[in-house]
Amino acid sequence: MKTIFSGIQPSGTITLGNYIGAMKQFVDLQEEYNCYFCIVDQHAITVPQDRLTLRQNTRSLAALYIASGIDPDKATLFIQSEVPAHAQAGWMLQCVAYIGELERMTQFKDKSAGKEAVSAGLLTYPPLMAADILLYNADLVPVGDDQKQHIELTRDLAERFNKKYNDIFTIPEARIAKVGARIMSLQDPLKKMSKSDVNQKGFISMLDTPKQIEKKIKSAVTDSEGIVKYDKENKPGISNLLSIYSILTNRPINEIEQSYEGKGYGDFKADVAQVVIEAVEPIQARYNQLMESSELDAILDHGAEKANRAASKMVKKMENAMGLGRKRK
Ligand code: TYM
Repeated sequence: MKTIFSGIQPSGTITLGNYIGAMKQFVDLQEEYNCYFCIVDQHAITVPQDRLTLRQNTRSLAALYIASGIDPDKATLFIQSEVPAHAQAGWMLQCVAYIGELERMTQFKDKSAGKEAVSAGLLTYPPLMAADILLYNADLVPVGDDQKQHIELTRDLAERFNKKYNDIFTIPEARIAKVGARIMSLQDPLKKMSKSDVNQKGFISMLDTPKQIEKKIKSAVTDSEGIVKYDKENKPGISNLLSIYSILTNRPINEIEQSYEGKGYGDFKADVAQVVIEAVEPIQARYNQLMESSELDAILDHGAEKANRAASKMVKKMENAMGLGRKRK
C-alpha cells in the first residue's frame, strides 16, 4: 500500500482554501492509502506566536481534521512536536540543504520581505518539511499549489542524501488537485486565500457563522460583465466562486454556468454562500462536540505513538548513514 503524508500549520483557524486544497482531499485518500496527517506546530513557530493561542489552534486543528472526516482508525493523526524524530531529521536535512536554494523559496521571500527580524527557522523551514515527508517514506504528498516548490526541494534533498550517504529515502511526489488547488482571496482574486490576510473579508474561516459567510461572499470582488462564466484571466473573482461551488457540490463547472444563464451575480453569490454554509455546518457541529470531549486527546496520543514508531526507525537509518553516534551491535 502506498503512503501519504501531509501537514497543516496551526497558525489560526484554517480557511476554506485549506479545506478545499488539502483537507477535503485527505478524506478521500484515507480509503486507499496508508495516511499520516500532521499538525505542524514546529513550522508555525517560524513566525511569532502567542503560546496559549498556538495551543488552542493546535487542538482546534485536530478537531477540524476529525470533524472534516479524517477517521483515526484509518489514518494516523498527530502533532509534529510530539514526535521528536521530526526535529532530529530536520537538523540532518538542514546539513544537506544549501543556503542558496533555501533563499530562493518563494514562501521565504514572501514571508521575509520588508521584515527586519526574520527567524533562522523561516529559512530552514523547508528541510523540516522534507523531514516530515521523508521520515514516513511517503510516496505522495497531497497539497495546494503553493507547496509545489517545497515538494520539489524535498525531492532534491532526498536524492542528494541517497546519493551522498545511503539510498534510504523514497522520492515523494506532490499530488495537486486539478480544480481547487489555489482558492483565491475573496477581496483580491489574484492573491491566494490565506488565513494570515489582514483583511478578514478576504477569507472564509471554517468556523465562520452562516451570517459571516453570506456577508463575505456577497461582498466578494467580481467584475462588471454580469455573466457567470469561468475565465480565470479576465474574470478571476467569478472563476474562483465557480471553483468553490463546483468542488463543494461535485458538479462540473460548465453545468453550473448553464444553470445561471440569464441570471445576475446576486443570485449566483447567494447560492455560492448557501453551498459553503451547507458544507461547513455539519463540520462545525462535529467540531463543537469534539472540542468538549476527551476523545481528541486519546486520538492524538495514539497518533503520536504510531508516528513515533515509524519515524524513529528512519531517524536511526539516517544517523547510521551519516555516521552519527556510536555503532551498536
Ligand atoms: P499551510 O498550513 O499553509 O496550508 C495547508 C494546506 O492548505 C493548502 N492551501 C491552499 N489550497 C488551496 N487554496 C488555498 N488558498 C490554500 N491555502 C493553503 C496548502 O497548499 C497546504 O496543502 N508548509 C505547509 C505545511 C507542511 C506540510 C508538510 C505539507 C509542513 N510539512 C509536509 C505537506 C507535507 C504549509 O504551510 O501549509
